[in-house]
Amino acid sequence: MPTTLDTTNPATVAYIVAAALFILSLSGLGNPKSSRRGNMMGIAGMVIALLATAMQKEFTGYGMLAGALIPATIIGAVLANRVKMTEMPQLVAMLHSFVGAAAVLVGFATLLDPNRTIIGTELVIHNIEIYIGVCIGAVTFTGSIIAFAKLHGVIGGKPLTLPGRHLLNIGLLVATIWLAVLFVQAVNAEEISRALWLLGIASVVTGVLGVHMVMAIGGADMPVVVSMLNSYSGWAAAAAGFMLSNDLLIITVALVGSSGAILSYIMCKGMNRSFISVILGGFGAAEGTAVAVEGEHTEIDIAATVELMCNAKSIVIVPGYGMAVAQAQHTLSEITKEFEAIGTTVHFAIHPIAGRLPGHMNVLLAEAKVSYDIVLEMDEINPNLPETDLVLVIGANDIVNPSALDDPGSPIAGMPVLEVWKAKDVIVMKRSMASGYAGIGNPLFFKSNTRMLFGDAKKNVDAILTAYRSR
Ligand code: TAP
Repeated sequence: MPTTLDTTNPATVAYIVAAALFILSLSGLGNPKSSRRGNMMGIAGMVIALLATAMQKEFTGYGMLAGALIPATIIGAVLANRVKMTEMPQLVAMLHSFVGAAAVLVGFATLLDPNRTIIGTELVIHNIEIYIGVCIGAVTFTGSIIAFAKLHGVIGGKPLTLPGRHLLNIGLLVATIWLAVLFVQAVNAEEISRALWLLGIASVVTGVLGVHMVMAIGGADMPVVVSMLNSYSGWAAAAAGFMLSNDLLIITVALVGSSGAILSYIMCKGMNRSFISVILGGFGAAEGTAVAVEGEHTEIDIAATVELMCNAKSIVIVPGYGMAVAQAQHTLSEITKEFEAIGTTVHFAIHPIAGRLPGHMNVLLAEAKVSYDIVLEMDEINPNLPETDLVLVIGANDIVNPSALDDPGSPIAGMPVLEVWKAKDVIVMKRSMASGYAGIGNPLFFKSNTRMLFGDAKKNVDAILTAYRSR
């Protein structure tokens, strides 16, 4: 594998092309219009990288490569085809755990490498790389498994707040640093079996840290955790890239690590959380006591909903997780076209954490061919809501919860939300009065200008379209 920038080596040139394609891929994925192109560039970059690596003169392990690649490709393709869009965060968390486990295994394998020739300072740096890779890998591995279990409902979403949990985290960190010193000393003294033991203990300590960090995070903050683990998996694999002296691996996973960190930062901003407190774990529970949410709600039927829609000059549609579950986006797209045709202004309002993964709503609306021009972000639409005639909230709950702004004791206090209650009328489509992902009551349902249209979102929007067309 090329380790220095030798541009006469075809593999180095292929690696540079692949790295450029990965960067272009990321920039393409940043916008729904160019995301398909971005995805293709990423695939092309990965194919070039794989071929360039496999065609190296010194590479001989074709049997082993095929043995790993073929079943992995089949399993990956089958899983990706089967998984529902709403289960994507779990899948992503599971994939992050594989990256973490790979970094741990590469670390142990590198330590046991009998062909190591480096000495002195280079050896110390190499050992530190091994140690860092294994530790970040272990945190990513166990943290991602807990994130998977929480997102999949295998374990509850409530944050585990052990007494003295911050002290426990600090204790685990201090132990990790202390073990690092012992590990480097052991390898320098050629005591490999002692070093192996120390590395094993460090993996367990950092594995416990990963479990504890993610267990301490509450349901409403899980999206940030998923993107944070995405970033960790990048840094773990970057350390593996240094261990293997593979420039392309270092570049690629540094892109993963930094883009995951930037996404975490953007999501923290979207939820009004501090980035540092996410990294340290241990939030997502209310600091105080939430005000009880109670009152009388008013129901509406399909005919009255269509009547309100026909009388509105401006309609804002707020999609949430329930729209994704019900797969109501295609009918919504049809409804949008019908109402635009009679001169109604229709916009979609997207909250940064609507649904169950970043960009979830954008993907579904793009799939249903809703024009990008009418899909607005929360910050763009909020100032226009007081002038809006009608808001249709479709399978959304936490992202339109006024207690985020009104109730300092609420678990989502401080999270910016779509301020739909400021519109003239609001219709909320969901199946019951049940709470959303954060498990908290929503005072929006009891506001005087809110009507509840109960039932499955798809059935209701289908009925609205039929009723409108038969008017
Ligand atoms: P939620 O607050 O989870 O609310 C979704 C609502 O949809 C539920 O209250 C449910 O009420 C309704 N629903 C479910 N199935 C339905 C169906 N077939 N037809 C109609 N309604 C249906 O969703 P949200 O407002 O989109 O907020 C997102 C939440 O997920 C936030 O708390 C966020 O922190 C969390 N989260 C987000 C992500 C990312 S990255 N976006 C990842 C993980 C978690 P009924 O049961 O009464 O129908």
